[in-house]
Amino acid sequence: MVWSKQKCRTLESQQFQFRPLLSERVYAKVQTLWNLQVDPPDHKKEPVMKPPRFDYERPTTIGEVLRLLAAHGDDASLLAGGQSLLPLLNMRFARPEVVIDLGHVTGLDTIEVTQKTVVVGAGVRLAQLERDPELAAILPVLARAASFVAHPQIRSRTTIGGTLCHADPSAELPCVAVATGARMHLRSESGDRAIDAGDFFDSVFMTTKRSDELLVAVEFPRLPGMTYRYDEVARRHGDFPFVGLCIGLAVDGGVCNGGQRRSRRRGRQAAPARGAGAGVHRPLGRRGGRGRSTCSVGRGHSVRRPTRFSGVPPRGPAGSRTTAFRRVQGGSGMTEQTRAVRITVNGVDREADVPVRTLLSDHLRQGCGLTGTHVGCEQGVCGACTVLVDGEAMRSCLMLAVRADGRTVETVESLASGDELNGFRAAMIEQHGLQCGFCTPGILMSVTGAARKGCPIEDVEGEILGGHVCRCTGYNGIRAAIRQHWEEKGTVR
Ligand SMILES: Cc1cc2nc3c(=O)[nH]c(=O)nc-3n(C[C@H](O)[C@H](O)[C@H](O)COP(=O)(O)OP(=O)(O)OC[C@H]3O[C@@H](n4cnc5c(N)ncnc54)[C@H](O)[C@@H]3O)c2cc1C
Ligand code: FES
Ligand code: FES
Repeated sequence: MVWSKQKCRTLESQQFQFRPLLSERVYAKVQTLWNLQVDPPDHKKEPVMKPPRFDYERPTTIGEVLRLLAAHGDDASLLAGGQSLLPLLNMRFARPEVVIDLGHVTGLDTIEVTQKTVVVGAGVRLAQLERDPELAAILPVLARAASFVAHPQIRSRTTIGGTLCHADPSAELPCVAVATGARMHLRSESGDRAIDAGDFFDSVFMTTKRSDELLVAVEFPRLPGMTYRYDEVARRHGDFPFVGLCIGLAVDGGVCNGGQRRSRRRGRQAAPARGAGAGVHRPLGRRGGRGRSTCSVGRGHSVRRPTRFSGVPPRGPAGSRTTAFRRVQGGSGMTEQTRAVRITVNGVDREADVPVRTLLSDHLRQGCGLTGTHVGCEQGVCGACTVLVDGEAMRSCLMLAVRADGRTVETVESLASGDELNGFRAAMIEQHGLQCGFCTPGILMSVTGAARKGCPIEDVEGEILGGHVCRCTGYNGIRAAIRQHWEEKGTVR
């Protein structure tokens, strides 16, 4: 059974009402039943926190990360781009005791090209994969598949390591990794190991990575004459696909010479691959809903299709497999860890001690009083909370305030100077680009960021606007405002 967020909030408040009437034991049982881990009742005096309590570590070297993983194992979650982990934390599906931030770790964001391989560091962001000219020439399938992942505001944060380790059955990059015969380089305190992508993905949201291991890089082979292509069917560009296909052909002198087929694995039937390599991922079950599973075939690798997925991935022997959906001890029993942050918000340096689980959106609204940044879904979907961080549009609901430490944040308030409206805001009014205005601050920030970078208007009208949900205006007015502004100036300021 899936409860809507609103329902959960209602239940949460009902639990507080009934708490005085219930014994501790019964109350604990009710909490387990509703699968909620709520804060003590006095939380009403404090700012509302969505993620559960956790301790936050910010290592700077791979060695430190490995030490932390060895010490905390299953109780720790690695935070890469945060675009999957943060929604899980916000919904409290994931409750790690410790969050290890990979954002400051050096040596994870390099791309190395040799004659035989392309080695992509786990920390490389999808936006970088899309834009790297060398990679586009050597392995264009990576850039193409990355361009299907969500919207630019999400791709600016998502890392290749994160999307592979999250192992979402609908994700694009795992399919490409399997089809191209990529190898995953894992490191732990006990040593390094490399596994084929086909052996890395174990099940829905499950990998064979051990909980003390860090994915450091992904190695893609460069096979002479091999050409790969990725395509998918989705409701609209940027949505998780219904079906995705990655196929590789060995072409010699303009003739497809078929290709090799890889051996069976663990005694399972290898799927026939036409040409040299093929990867299909196909969410099964209800459209876009629960009950999805995947079928993944790569270069003749075996099909692994879990029969049923009820929302919670299967648990393996401790430490042998990994998933982001961890129901460990983190939460209301822990003490609140705080950290000093210094963020330049709209040109003003703001220092504060914040609980480490504070979202940037909440810090801006509650800590800085900048309520122009709106909060809707808190899962990265609606785009209302979009702000510019170091000039890059991103979701403030999917970023911890501690991660913005030392960075520059611009909110919608920065676009107003006195009573004067900047160009795009004026165009929005002239073209009736808003009604209730709930989605508007996010759209203004995304379009501002795009205009400053000189993005082509087609990208802004399509992909960038596609990353925002407007429920009441309709997009024609907003598109007309974008067109007017681009015609007038080409830049927002
Ligand atoms: C609105 C929205 C739409 C999306 N649409 C798509 C889509 O169409 N297609 C798609 O593929 N994805 C989509 N995503 C998911 C997005 O691409 C995620 O960012 C991605 O799945 C996870 O990458 P991340 O870097 O953000 O990882 P995080 O969220 O930081 O981490 C995800 C998991 O991987 C683990 N992890 C991360 N890095 C490492 C590492 N180096 N070693 C070991 N473990 C690690 C973490 O512990 C965590 O369990 C969407 C997300 C949102 C919010
Ligand atoms: S509130 Fe952040 S994307 Fe919806
Ligand atoms: S103007 Fe109302 S949601 Fe977009």
